[in-house]
Amino acid sequence: MTGNQIRNIVVLGGGTAGWMSASYLGKALGPAVNITVLEAPAIPKIGVGEATIPNLHKVFFDFLGLSEEEWMRECNASFKMGIRFINWRTPGAGEATARPHGEGRKDHFDHLFGLLPEHGNLPLSHYWVNKKLAGETDEPFDYACYRQPPVFDRNLSPRYLDGTRWASYAWHFDANLVADFLRRFATEKQGAVHIQDTFTEAEVDHGGYITAIRTETGRRLEADLFVDCSGFRSLLINQVMKEPFLDMSDHLLNDRAVATAVPHDDEANGVEPYTSAIAMSSGWTWKIPMLGRFGTGYVYSSRFASQDEATEEFCRMWGLDPETQKLNHVKFRVGRNRRAWVKNVVGIGLSSCFLEPLESTGIYFVYAALYQLVKHFPDKNFEPILLDQFNREIETMFDDTRDFIQGHFSFAPRDDTPFWRACKELELASDFREKVAMYKAGLAVNMPVTDEGNYYGNFEAEFRNFWSNANYYCVFSGLDFLPEHPLPALGFRQETVESAEAVFARVKKEQEELVRTLPSTYEYLRQLHGR
Ligand code: TRP
Repeated sequence: MTGNQIRNIVVLGGGTAGWMSASYLGKALGPAVNITVLEAPAIPKIGVGEATIPNLHKVFFDFLGLSEEEWMRECNASFKMGIRFINWRTPGAGEATARPHGEGRKDHFDHLFGLLPEHGNLPLSHYWVNKKLAGETDEPFDYACYRQPPVFDRNLSPRYLDGTRWASYAWHFDANLVADFLRRFATEKQGAVHIQDTFTEAEVDHGGYITAIRTETGRRLEADLFVDCSGFRSLLINQVMKEPFLDMSDHLLNDRAVATAVPHDDEANGVEPYTSAIAMSSGWTWKIPMLGRFGTGYVYSSRFASQDEATEEFCRMWGLDPETQKLNHVKFRVGRNRRAWVKNVVGIGLSSCFLEPLESTGIYFVYAALYQLVKHFPDKNFEPILLDQFNREIETMFDDTRDFIQGHFSFAPRDDTPFWRACKELELASDFREKVAMYKAGLAVNMPVTDEGNYYGNFEAEFRNFWSNANYYCVFSGLDFLPEHPLPALGFRQETVESAEAVFARVKKEQEELVRTLPSTYEYLRQLHGR
């Protein structure tokens, strides 16, 4: 056993994925394994902000032994309790343009973190659908079933000033600061070796395994396992191992983004405790608030908008001057490698797979893959069953998310531009069509109503139920895409249906209480960051 153990790992790439990999593997494998990170001399980047999901803390930072306060301070992090989708039903008659920060927009819905309240062993969503289809309520799903939406309207905090947390939340941060922070952690606390040099080529043995990689200054780095974090170029997994990238532009049309950071007067306007996803004429724009500024980017389809057109629409919305604003133009590929792990090379991050950031899954894909890598960790024999299982997990994680994101565009009522019309022409994968059919038939899609389901403490369970009942209801009902009839079983449970009214009333009462007592997000963050 011991003679066969992996001793040396080389991580190629020192971006967010590279340093997340080095620190996570360093923690999981301990000092018996040497980790070297090869980072090309820094290319200056604009910190446009990244959004995450709640299990980031438990699965990643907690695992590393880093406290939330510590890493939040280091990474200029802010809070996020979900995503507010704006103008996905109507063009909004320029509403986002006129009031990009304003409240009271009519066309919006929230995709929220956390469990739905439960009643009679069912999530509240079923009772809402029952009322909605009977014409007994005008309240949208989010405001009826969750406590968060009125809190969003007022930019209030997921924590009281004494630290008490009332909602599950995730974070916004500058991913470059996270990479920086983790580089210091991995090199200073864990003994990872950091080499700044440029990759030139790999040495491959007769069996097709990489034995070493070479650099511009003549270094030669040997290892048993190579982790490819080289980004879209995918230097090892695509270029050396020749693993094909499966292009999925038949599911998703967007392939470009124009991004920037915009200064923001937090004191006057507050800090929004959510990510915004604002529908545009040929895609959508993210808005990620951090202290003092927000990151934003228009994700668009080059088939329907040129770079100039997208830039013009984007800058007009925020009142920016395209001539002087520092803009980051990104071209991306949509899809994943056929196999994420081939022989002794594992791709993590953009070198492995990429989806537009509509559901904040980019960083999640990195630590989910690291978690699976450790779970399936090999010895020098690289037993195929371990690789196969790992690859299957990554495949499901990615393809399910791709389908769910495609659903946002497919089921959006908007059809006012060629882009939105083209989205409806694309075919949905067959197992997604099945999930959608279940939803339409009034059945939940995976129905986690207990802590074992969509729960941030049990990653195994959560990984399998990643897109669950609550996710489907938030987004689909938000798009006015409703089940055709309520859950048939409810018809036999009149008493339970009636007593569900008490749960809806409780949600209302709790909303009022929260709005009355919570501090603003700005106030909380200022205290946390000591500014
Ligand atoms: N399991 C995740 C969660 O509920 C799913 C998710 C990913 C999500 N991105 C999201 C939920 C954005 C709400 C908003 O946390």
